[in-house]
Amino acid sequence: MENKKVIFSGIKPSGDLTLGNYLGAIKNWVKLQDDNQYDCFYCVVDMHAITVKQTPKDLRRRTLEVLAIYIAAGIEPEKNTLFIQSHVPAHSELSWVLTCNSYMGELGRMTQYKDKSAKGGESIGAGLFTYPVLMASDILLYQTELVPVGKDQIQHLELARDIAMRFNNAYSDTFKIPEGYVNKQASKIMDLQNPEKKMSKSDENPNGYILIMDPPEVIRKKISRAVTDTVGKVNYTDDQPGIKNLINIMGTIRGVKPEEIVEEYADKGYADFKKDVAEVIISELQPIQERVNELMSNKKELEEIYKSGAQKASYVANKTLRKVMKKVGFIPR
Ligand code: AMP
Ligand code: TRP
Repeated sequence: MENKKVIFSGIKPSGDLTLGNYLGAIKNWVKLQDDNQYDCFYCVVDMHAITVKQTPKDLRRRTLEVLAIYIAAGIEPEKNTLFIQSHVPAHSELSWVLTCNSYMGELGRMTQYKDKSAKGGESIGAGLFTYPVLMASDILLYQTELVPVGKDQIQHLELARDIAMRFNNAYSDTFKIPEGYVNKQASKIMDLQNPEKKMSKSDENPNGYILIMDPPEVIRKKISRAVTDTVGKVNYTDDQPGIKNLINIMGTIRGVKPEEIVEEYADKGYADFKKDVAEVIISELQPIQERVNELMSNKKELEEIYKSGAQKASYVANKTLRKVMKKVGFIPR
């Protein structure tokens, strides 16, 4: 355990999870676990979720559901540390220290902040601004080497590296410098209605995304309505972004390269292709959905998992936190 490289990642329970979260993040985590050379921490980042307004009841349900999805997707609680961010106070404690070592300028340059604050007008929470510092704390507390995320999070990860290096330079070596890990084919699953933008759980149009928990008939309907083009041929090119996205979805699930799919559908039309894409998604998600429902109907099992996860995580996190507090000049407790 001591010599294994550490992996850390997390998902916000701020909306129901999409196929983008599954293929861009969770599916990779499952793969990495099988490598057996990593010590993995997977977190439900509920403190990040409240950077935008949440209904408490929904946040509670979703936090447990995200945890259930991790497990149902194949992340084994025995092999990995699964926990809820707010259960490990070290995250907010480190976050304050790192906030004091971050610059307004660098935080203001984050695309996610710029996008979200542009929509929010006057009433943007300050948490939206300091969000990446909390994310840096999540990662740095565990001496993480690898952070498997979708492409949209790479900018935040780079900031975490900058903050870590800055701290190390100012106070001597404290944090390991983490690297991002992105699965190329699933780095950005696109919106089904507008394949120019990322599939997102916060989208207004539900036809643009597929939820991990969507029933089969809904998946069939959404895929059949997915925006394509007038070329009429299954090609893997930026000129056909809708089809390219569907190829990426099918390829990632089946574990095959885009070219193989193009070849397979050389003589077929979009209707046939879409039908198969839908069935591939359904057969991937159905067993996960069944297991999620099972876990959600017996909260005891989930409770045991997140409690023991928080204990394990706290132990590791507090080691780093103690070092940090000492280095900045706080009196040991
Ligand atoms: P979030 O839903 O913003 O908490 O994102 C959780 C994880 O899912 C992060 O690693 C994201 O990069 C990843 N992710 C979210 N949406 C997509 C998408 N459409 N394609 C690929 N990865 C995604
Ligand atoms: N900010 C990430 C997102 O929106 C979620 C997240 C929070 C995260 N902390 C993290 C991802 C630490 C990786 C590592 O997707």
